[in-house]
Amino acid sequence: MKIIAVANQKGGCGKTTTAINLAASLGKKEQRVLLLDLDPQGHASLGFGVYSDDARDLYDVFTGEAKLEDIIVPNAYAGVDVVPATMTLAAAEHLPVRSDERDRQLEIHLAGIRSRYDYAVIDCPPSMGLLSLNALMVADLVLIPVEMSLFGLNGIDYMYETIARLSERHGRGIPIRVMPTLVDSRTRLCRQFLHEVGERFADDVSSVMVQFTVRLKEAVRQGVPIIAYDPTSTAAVQYLRLADELMSTLPDQPLTDAGQERAARLTAMKRAFEEARARLHGGDARQHVVLRLFGYASRNVQIAGDFNGWTPDRDVITRIVGEDVEKILTLASGEYQYRYIVDGVWQEDPSNPDQVPNDSGGFNSVLQVEEQHEEMEV
Ligand SMILES: Nc1ncnc2c1ncn2[C@@H]1O[C@H](COP(=O)(O)OP(=O)(O)OP(=O)(O)O)[C@@H](O)[C@H]1O
Ligand SMILES: [Mg+2]
Repeated sequence: MKIIAVANQKGGCGKTTTAINLAASLGKKEQRVLLLDLDPQGHASLGFGVYSDDARDLYDVFTGEAKLEDIIVPNAYAGVDVVPATMTLAAAEHLPVRSDERDRQLEIHLAGIRSRYDYAVIDCPPSMGLLSLNALMVADLVLIPVEMSLFGLNGIDYMYETIARLSERHGRGIPIRVMPTLVDSRTRLCRQFLHEVGERFADDVSSVMVQFTVRLKEAVRQGVPIIAYDPTSTAAVQYLRLADELMSTLPDQPLTDAGQERAARLTAMKRAFEEARARLHGGDARQHVVLRLFGYASRNVQIAGDFNGWTPDRDVITRIVGEDVEKILTLASGEYQYRYIVDGVWQEDPSNPDQVPNDSGGFNSVLQVEEQHEEMEV
């Protein structure tokens, strides 16, 4: 079984749409496919019409309540079995298992069923927490859909870093494919982005890009892949081509080259990428602001504020650093209000004394972003 993780911590860039349609396209090419929904939002399960509030999911598997083979929904679509997700899966971000095995749970449980499938496609959540790490740890290839919009490239450098670290741990390179999605090549900005992506990610860029089309949205709403909903549409053809490309890219044996060479290349790419971003953003001096919550690594921590429409973790990068949680925001200078959500409970930032009363009788924390600060720690 070859394992493709569809990942990008940026929300709404087409991960789930890609996972669904790639899985279905591989199935159409007579491959035996297992789609794993690793996102508590359950959108991939919905997209295959197999979502149920009380379905068992990988949380039950990771805690030993169920076996992986028992939660698989067979034949969700021709050739495709699905491991569904529900909200319960969010609890898997802090698994009660030995810490050295926390990011290997998926690998451990997939071991028993590897011979049953040709491909596993994993739909990751929009964060770099434990669930995504589990997917990256077991992946033979990471497919990163990149939305062709102004902030579409945000966070990709962190993903490259994370994958480089894992590559070193594995002692092997993990191939990456960067795939432009929501492409509207009529706009100048989109063309400019496609050019940048091609230059910066070079060999890692997929030869396939997926156009923006309302047909994909309609298909998801019907709970069927695009090749069933509108087989002759451009998007259907593009996803079938993606399946071809990945089938010919993925080696039969895992790559064995040393992770170090890969890591060096990634560092160089990261630098080039930073330069490109600085150029693209021009005068709009957005900067990374790092907020750190000390000793919260074992808790489920999200952040919401006026910078992301008070939607928990939208457009936020999360990093676990030792015992601490870091939230990385990309902000222009100005004053912002925010709150943390710790294990589902909203609260102000315990390490930030700057607070203002809010409408619900509590307090919001206040963040001042000064101009020209490279990075600011609060
Ligand atoms: N090529 C496309 N053309 C038009 N709409 C698209 C396209 N790809 C995805 N969408 C739509 O964009 C929205 C986000 O897509 P999707 O759910 O696949 O992203 P995601 O990265 O999985 O999001 P999340 O981070 O929340 O998991 C959905 O409404 C989807 O139908
Ligand atoms: Mg998704």
